[in-house]
Formats: sequence, C-alpha cells, structure tokens
Amino acid sequence: MSLADDHGFRLWPARLSPDEQRSLVDEVFALAAAAPFYRPMTPGGKPMSVEMTNFGDLGWVTDLDGYRYQSTHPVTGAAWPAMPQILRSLWDELAQAAAPPDACLVNLYRGDARMGLHQDRDEVDFAFPVLSVSLGDTAVFRLGGGKRNDPTRSLRLSSGDVMVLAGAARLAHHGVDRILPGSSRLVPGGGRINLTLRRAL
Ligand code: SIN
Ligand code: FE2
Repeated sequence: MSLADDHGFRLWPARLSPDEQRSLVDEVFALAAAAPFYRPMTPGGKPMSVEMTNFGDLGWVTDLDGYRYQSTHPVTGAAWPAMPQILRSLWDELAQAAAPPDACLVNLYRGDARMGLHQDRDEVDFAFPVLSVSLGDTAVFRLGGGKRNDPTRSLRLSSGDVMVLAGAARLAHHGVDRILPGSSRLVPGGGRINLTLRRAL
C-alpha cells in the first residue's frame, strides 16, 4: 500500500521487510569496502555532514568544481560497484520508468548529520523519477515544491520506507532536517542510510 498526493509524490511505508532491510544494509557495507564512504565538499568549500558513496555506472559527486556525475570514486579512482539487485527490482516495480537507473547515491547520516533543502537537478531528463530507500534511524524529512520558497511539509522516513518523486514532485525541494538517533538498530554503529536511484543520462 502506498500514500500518494496529486503531484507525483508516493511513499510506500515499510516496503522492505526487516529481513530485506538487513540484507541490503549488509550488502551496502560489503560494497563500501571497495567504494568507501567519504565526506564530500560543497562547491563553496564546506565539508558536508553526510558521508557518501555511489553504486552503478555513474555516481553523484560534489567538490570545489561543482556538482556532477562521474564514473569513478573521487578518492580511490575506481569504478563504482554495481547496484544491488533488490534496488533495480524496486525501480522496475515502482518507478514506472522506461529505462533502468544508472546511478545510486548512498548517503550515510551519523550523529547530527543533515541535508539542506535542495532540488535534484543534475540529471539530463527529469521525466525519469527519483526513487529513495531509507534504512536505519528515522529521518525528519522536509518536502517542499518547485520553488524554493514554496511551503514545505515535514514527514518521517523510517527504515524500509520507499519514496518516489515523479511528475511535478520530481523537482520538489527536499532535505533532511535531522535523524532521530537510536530509533533503529539496523545500521552498525548507528545512523541512517539513504539510497537514491536516478537516471543521470
Ligand atoms: C538526498 O536528497 O540526496 C537525500 C535524501 C534523503 O536522505 O532522504
Ligand atoms: Fe536530493
């Protein structure tokens, strides 16, 4: 069952079972042995509070040169690992897209990590939706509209939740105000993992 609005936002609470969540977290950390989490720098030169890595053909990166997709890990120089199969299956089942995702951004929120309000707009074709999977601690997520000063609403994203931003919501502003530490014991060492599937090209 999913919750939907008229603008292309959809949320499937607890779409992944506890077993699926555990095996996905295990897979994420196994892949992160080859593609380690690192702390990216904003184009303005500030270290982000979120740690990141990527899976798939292309990974989203930020540094002093700006935001972009690239095929290699900025620290190791290696190609990103392939996307876990369960993520591709979720995309096939829920995204209603004509082509598979080519990028999966992996965000790790520990402690008081957060993400400011932004749009996902580094992709070529906004007709492809964004699909996001939450694992571990609950996030206090903020969802706004296409304009930066549109009203926003706050919702909680819990472990196993899957969200799709399509249609008008594809370019909705969004961010993570904070995570609720200790709300889940799924992620080793605590915190939250968010996996964002997109089609960059
Ligand atoms: C993002 O917008 O990149 C992450 C959103 C989230 O962590 O839920
Ligand atoms: Fe985003």
